[in-house]
Amino acid sequence: MSEAFYSHARLYDLMFPGGGTAVDFYRAEADRQGGSVLELGCGTGHKLIPIASDGRSCVGLDFSSDMLAEARRKADERGVAVEWMQGDMRAFDLERTFDFVFITANSLLHLHEADDLVSCFRSVRRHLAPGGRFVFDVFNPNVRLLAGADGVRRTRESLSFMDPDRGNVGVDVSEIYDAPAQVTRGTWYLSTDSEPDFVVAPLHIRSIFPQELPLLISLGGLRLTERFGDWTRRPFGVDSPLQLCVCE
Ligand SMILES: C[S@@+](CC[C@H](N)C(=O)[O-])C[C@H]1O[C@@H](n2cnc3c(N)ncnc32)[C@H](O)[C@@H]1O
Repeated sequence: MSEAFYSHARLYDLMFPGGGTAVDFYRAEADRQGGSVLELGCGTGHKLIPIASDGRSCVGLDFSSDMLAEARRKADERGVAVEWMQGDMRAFDLERTFDFVFITANSLLHLHEADDLVSCFRSVRRHLAPGGRFVFDVFNPNVRLLAGADGVRRTRESLSFMDPDRGNVGVDVSEIYDAPAQVTRGTWYLSTDSEPDFVVAPLHIRSIFPQELPLLISLGGLRLTERFGDWTRRPFGVDSPLQLCVCE
């Protein structure tokens, strides 16, 4: 449903340059765990390339050939070795296990059906080495914000960016919330003055509510051992921006 959004990997990186506290968090977690690393929904490698540059053996799996091509280009440019693989995080078999598996930046929320989430967790479990850990982050749904998604197209000033090929690119988004499905159905519009709407792409993101999250994890054969509410590891609470989950 959101494949078109990820078929513009170079623009994705300009819009979301990465770096910051999330990279620091996953780098520290990979260090703490030690051993091999698998990222599901690795995109263009915002987190995995820095982790691999610390000397870890890394595999990145993603659905999108465009995102993987950009990831490979950046890793090669930096002289960093990562094994990039095209696949679906709902069901995969890499025929080996990993000490640290992670899914970040709401990538998990591209799975809309409970069965798909459980199937993903089961696949993760099969790929975890004894004593291994699985860490993921998803946003903490705020019902007021979800209910405010009214389908009106609005400009997101904070996401506008400079494209060396096109010039200044503006970003508009319209969103509605499909409550029974727990999915926010968005359309993203990228425009320049001379090329309005040169990209129009759907992006559909599920919400996972705090009470259902541990159940989905346990149905996948994993156990939630810690839930933080932000990148500083504050305990998860009602106003936390994130559900940052550690599983065994
Ligand atoms: C928001 S991006 C995050 C990329 C990266 N993890 C980061 O932190 O920048 C979400 C990624 O998940 C990938 N994705 C979505 N559904 C997937 C699936 N079923 N299996 C594997 N990757 C998927 C998309 O192609 C995209 O690259």
